[in-house]
Amino acid sequence: MSAQLADDAARLWPMRIADIEEVLAIERQVYAMPWSEGNFIDSLAAGYAAFVLRNAPILRAPRSQMLGYVLAMKGVDEMHLLNLSVAPELQGRGLARLMLDALCGTCREQACTQLWLEVRVGNQRAREVYRRYGFVEMGLRRAYYPVPQGAREDAVLMSLAVPP
Ligand SMILES: CC(C)(COP(=O)(O)OP(=O)(O)OC[C@H]1O[C@@H](n2cnc3c(N)ncnc32)[C@H](O)[C@@H]1OP(=O)(O)O)[C@@H](O)C(=O)NCCC(=O)NCCS
Repeated sequence: MSAQLADDAARLWPMRIADIEEVLAIERQVYAMPWSEGNFIDSLAAGYAAFVLRNAPILRAPRSQMLGYVLAMKGVDEMHLLNLSVAPELQGRGLARLMLDALCGTCREQACTQLWLEVRVGNQRAREVYRRYGFVEMGLRRAYYPVPQGAREDAVLMSLAVPP
């Protein structure tokens, strides 16, 4: 999976422990309640599908920059999207769509026909990104997410039939 970004080709790579510092730098910018380092380490140890998007066709290229990342957990014949994030300054350039395309490819490789996710009710931008991609809102999970202060926030449950 690749896409043109400036002069470099954006490419997905399996996430490694060595990527986590850069992942956390984005994570802490884009979420009020970011995942911890331990959450990412545990996700890799659990064997979740996890990819980073970099602006280089070669992993160790000197100017290789982290653009975003995606993590998902496989079920029996479905995949659950756990985290999809794009660096703030690079949002709105089709990078989430690129990572969702790649994740759908992983779903097909692993015979997963349905993709599920939860998103905060108040995260209108992400809900719109997922809706445009083809996800359908299936219901609400009450008080699913913690918030920095105050009552918990509901989650919208969304689902996508993985395109063949
Ligand atoms: C949500 C997020 C991953 C989207 O990434 P992105 O790279 O900006 O999204 P894309 O540029 O690929 O946009 C995908 C589609 O959504 C549309 N879109 C993007 N931002 C939009 C906005 N603010 N309003 C309406 N539509 C929007 C794009 O036009 C595009 O539509 P198209 O494919 O029909 O042209 C990114 O904003 C992000 O990292 N947010 C913070 C973390 C987060 O909330 N993650 C989701 C948690 S569930």
